[in-house]
Amino acid sequence: MITVRPFSPTDIPSILKVVEQSLGETYPPSLYLTVHNLWCEGFLVALENGQVVAFVAAVPTGSKVARVLMLAVTPKCRRRSIGRRLMEGLYISCRVRGVDTIVLEVRKSNKEALAFYERQGFSVFGEMKQFYSNGEDAWKMMKVLGT
Ligand SMILES: CC(C)(COP(=O)(O)OP(=O)(O)OC[C@H]1O[C@@H](n2cnc3c(N)ncnc32)[C@H](O)[C@@H]1OP(=O)(O)O)[C@@H](O)C(=O)NCCC(=O)NCCS
Repeated sequence: MITVRPFSPTDIPSILKVVEQSLGETYPPSLYLTVHNLWCEGFLVALENGQVVAFVAAVPTGSKVARVLMLAVTPKCRRRSIGRRLMEGLYISCRVRGVDTIVLEVRKSNKEALAFYERQGFSVFGEMKQFYSNGEDAWKMMKVLGT
């Protein structure tokens, strides 16, 4: 069974594994504490059998805007609605905080994530040249939360 709960600092070792398997970037462990301190309710983890298998981390970027910094589901657990459930948890956190718009960046080559975010109601509204450490461009996407 999958459960979703807020991030705890003790999740960091498991999150590092998910990131290693899922994202083409590496981040220092301290980054997760910084993100958590910015907005606890915007950092959610999904567990299966007590193990962290996915997470979403978002930060506020204005009084009514949040930005998704990372979303990752460990490869063996994909296409089981875990990403969707994490985003739904994030939408709840956004509404409680009064956030009505979510923005994010996604690699132009990441067709899976593009399809996922489009299914979530996000639309492309711009691009960021050489956004990633390997020089790859990003699409900027946004979603306005309904009432
Ligand atoms: C993108 C990602 C988070 C999706 O997580 P997930 O748990 O597999 O997604 P879900 O099962 O909740 O998918 C919900 C819907 O999104 C769409 N979708 C998800 N993955 C898809 C894929 N690989 N291809 C096409 N559509 C996809 C589908 O419409 C899916 O519904 P369906 O399974 O009923 O067809 C996951 O693939 C991942 O971790 N990728 C690597 C990291 C990454 O790219 N993160 C985003 C960086 S910006």
